[in-house]
Amino acid sequence: MKDRYAVAGHPVEHSRSPFIHARFAELTGQALAYGRLPCPPDAFAATVRGFAASAEPGFGPARGCNVTVPFKFEVPALARRLTPRAALAEAANTLRFDADGWQADNTDGAGLVRDITVHAGVSLRGARLLLVGAGGAAAGVLGPLLEAGLAALVLANRSVDKARALVQRHTALAVRHGVELRAAPLDRTGTAFDIVVNATAASLSGAGVPVAGQVLRPGALALDMMYGAAARPFLAWAGEHGAHGRDGLGMLVEQAAESFAFWRGVRPPTAGVLAELQTVVAQESA
Ligand code: ATR
Repeated sequence: MKDRYAVAGHPVEHSRSPFIHARFAELTGQALAYGRLPCPPDAFAATVRGFAASAEPGFGPARGCNVTVPFKFEVPALARRLTPRAALAEAANTLRFDADGWQADNTDGAGLVRDITVHAGVSLRGARLLLVGAGGAAAGVLGPLLEAGLAALVLANRSVDKARALVQRHTALAVRHGVELRAAPLDRTGTAFDIVVNATAASLSGAGVPVAGQVLRPGALALDMMYGAAARPFLAWAGEHGAHGRDGLGMLVEQAAESFAFWRGVRPPTAGVLAELQTVVAQESA
């Protein structure tokens, strides 16, 4: 009987996670079903608890879920245990319904690091990286980026206080890994970064790219965590400034693989699934 998983969020109708996890299950021979769990904004915890306790004829028990916007900050309160990276982020995207208490993980940062190093083929060792944004998306990736061997990371945000708070929470980790870490307003980031990661929601409101083109050195990697139409302005901006633009599909597939491994103890292959997803998304947004 297939164990059940789902992606919980609001909205989740357009989530790619069911497609990705179905392909992972096929490729690894794992018996699982993965669906969508729409959660009303004020009933996230109740909806997830209901799913965990639910039964479905012909299927096994619910074993876990992914969590997406806007609930990632609500996940730690539901879990008995947090992985260290989820504790540092104070946000999580993965829950495992262990019998002795739920465990929460945050796989976004590991997904981003793997996409940059494996799929984009760009080394983080010794690199200067600009991370733009200080919301849930940025919080989830900051720790794993600091552990990846960077020389320096600047965290820039419209509300600079939020960037400062995140930096403060990560200072000890940065020192341990020898990374120069600082917070900055959007117009005082410094210039010529090797890698720029956009973790803001600016494009959703049509606001465009919130930093100047000088943040990119020629040939830099410019990665937006969005994909499809939402990533288009950022990718165009990257091209105009001589950088290599990359959308968030690789990160999406890699964070899913990390969640799959957390649940099942098996790491699925990702390159083929990413290529399939890129084709589907390109067709849809053509
Ligand atoms: P998420 O969980 O996706 O990160 P969030 O927590 O709402 O969502 O964070 C959104 C991020 O996008 C924040 O860094 C936000 O900046 P503020 O902290 O100053 O609000 C950023 N953002 C949203 N719209 C923006 C815009 N038009 N220009 C610059 N930054 C923007």
